[in-house]
Amino acid sequence: MSAFRNNAIILHMSENEKKCRHVAIIMDGNGRWAKAQGKPRTAGHLVGADNVRTIAIAASELGIEYLTLYAFSTENWKRSQDEVNYIMKLPSYFFGKYMKEFIDRGYRMRMLGELDRLPAETKRVLDDAVEQSKTNTGLNLSIAINYGSQREIVLAAERYAKDVQDGKIGLDITNEQFASYLMTSDMPDVDLLIRTSGELRISNYLLWQIAYAELEFVPEAWPDFTPDVLKRCVEQFGKRDRRYGGIKYE
Ligand code: IPE
Ligand code: IPE
Ligand code: MG
Repeated sequence: MSAFRNNAIILHMSENEKKCRHVAIIMDGNGRWAKAQGKPRTAGHLVGADNVRTIAIAASELGIEYLTLYAFSTENWKRSQDEVNYIMKLPSYFFGKYMKEFIDRGYRMRMLGELDRLPAETKRVLDDAVEQSKTNTGLNLSIAINYGSQREIVLAAERYAKDVQDGKIGLDITNEQFASYLMTSDMPDVDLLIRTSGELRISNYLLWQIAYAELEFVPEAWPDFTPDVLKRCVEQFGKRDRRYGGIKYE
């Protein structure tokens, strides 16, 4: 009886694990894409920003519930002032052009990262997008901006330590309790992580949340990442055997 029960649980879990609820993408290769066309790097960032809309729509149509896009890392401040300034103005271009459509489509915007360190106008636009869409129940479209996963984990540890100090929580917590201090607190872990432009690294993205994610590295630069490429990645995901350290029962 108990063996039967265990098998039933395993079969039930594997059905759920097949579902690609949360896709995270490292949108890389804008600069090289532009350079290959004899254009400045910023031209790649502009086309890349428009592609966010295309891929968000495609993700929503594929039944993905959470799409989490890496737009600017805590390390990207090392770039030229001109490039950083350009990227910091993109949210206002992007949401000015697409926010109404996103609201109509029912998307809920979320932000990951330390927004307080962004230029005031950039932060205002991002806060506004979150506020305007907070009751929406469609695609959760998260933008990671001034985001770094190591920083996120340190900030979580600081907040947890403070709660311990204040007597709000004990010293022995579960992984789930710790995860509730992360910037992704009310989101499921990542099922599929995609990086564009052929680079094979994680670059400080969602280190905790990708613990058991399936990984796809595609050669296309972000501006060339089409709905078809996304679909192929999700199809690949469907063929994977997610074991979570367990054993597959046939
Ligand atoms: C990704 O494209 C966008 C950001 C990191 C802001 P890149 O700007 O990194 O483009 P490459 O990798 O230099 O081609
Ligand atoms: C990662 O890309 C960050 C974003 C896509 C926003 P980078 O281009 O900054 O990563 P590295 O420097 O190649 O690792
Ligand atoms: Mg890059």
